[in-house]
Amino acid sequence: MKVLSGIQPTARPHWGNYFGAIKQYIALQGNEQSYYFVADLHALTTIREPVTLAQNTSDAAMDLLALGLDPEKATLFRQSDVPEVTELTWLLLTITQMHLLEKCVSYKDKKERGIAADAGLFTYPVLMAADILIYDSDVVPVGADQIQHLEVTRDIAQRFNSMYGETFVLPKPHVLDSTAKVLGTDGEKMSKSYNNTIPIFETPKRLKKLINRIKTDSTAVEDPKDPDTCAVFDLYRLFADDTQQQELADRYRAGGMGYGEAKNQLYESAMAYFGEAFERRASLEQRPDDLEDILQAGAAVARSKAREIIDRAKTACGLAQA
Ligand code: ADP
Ligand code: TRP
Repeated sequence: MKVLSGIQPTARPHWGNYFGAIKQYIALQGNEQSYYFVADLHALTTIREPVTLAQNTSDAAMDLLALGLDPEKATLFRQSDVPEVTELTWLLLTITQMHLLEKCVSYKDKKERGIAADAGLFTYPVLMAADILIYDSDVVPVGADQIQHLEVTRDIAQRFNSMYGETFVLPKPHVLDSTAKVLGTDGEKMSKSYNNTIPIFETPKRLKKLINRIKTDSTAVEDPKDPDTCAVFDLYRLFADDTQQQELADRYRAGGMGYGEAKNQLYESAMAYFGEAFERRASLEQRPDDLEDILQAGAAVARSKAREIIDRAKTACGLAQA
């Protein structure tokens, strides 16, 4: 299996991103080919502050490494370190039908949210198609919101193949299981758009504050409580094993325990769960050169693969190779 996924460095990851996506796609590392990249070229469509873009890109790479992405098992790189991707984007643009891009909901959504409707934003799915096709990827783990982009990728690849002969591998989406919706501090789905997130890499003090903010009902301390309708318990389930969950559920039902205590348990279990990630993150921050070495080594591997496919594509459409 040749796995590839990209992550945009637009916001620091929260618990919803981790359990709904990152954890699942890191679990796919160690395949025949496992490529993960930070999509800094895509982020250019929304981040126009050079220092922020550079910082966010390093942060995203460090977050992935801290959360368990292992450079021995996977190739991690910055999208912009593989310039062949932008070269392929042009070849693909010349055969992409406008109507394919016009129907993309993510473009329409972003435009409605006030993001400038630049050509870059409009053609974003073509750059994404190039990301995927340039490594012969066959499995692309993505959240449900990206499935349409995968369909566009397949359409573009099919059209190129039928015009110029078999050139690209048709990728399959590997839809991440997001049925387990992670709740935010207001009890609704956790999302950066709702301002209810709990970011993973918070200071203990901020984390405690955010957990204390989780909405609960006004059942008195002495009264029995229902764990199944409580956001604190719902979040606790992400971090605790079956026995621990059973113990806390029993205490809810017995009465005599306030929500403050349940929140403390949630805090302790989250700190323990992400303990190793916090340590790895802190250690990476001290070694910016090592991070750069990992990204450069990843880019070298990715580029050599990309060169093979761009040459194949250029030959197919009658262009001289570099
Ligand atoms: P946000 O909603 O904060 O903008 P994104 O849309 O960037 O998050 O999500 C990136 C990935 O994280 C997607 O694949 C999505 O399925 C997953 N994800 C985000 N929020 C949640 C959540 N609350 N529960 C489960 N998965 C989530
Ligand atoms: N568009 C994806 C997102 O916003 C990020 C991305 C860019 C990507 N290129 C990709 C994901 C290629 C998978 C494969 O989440």
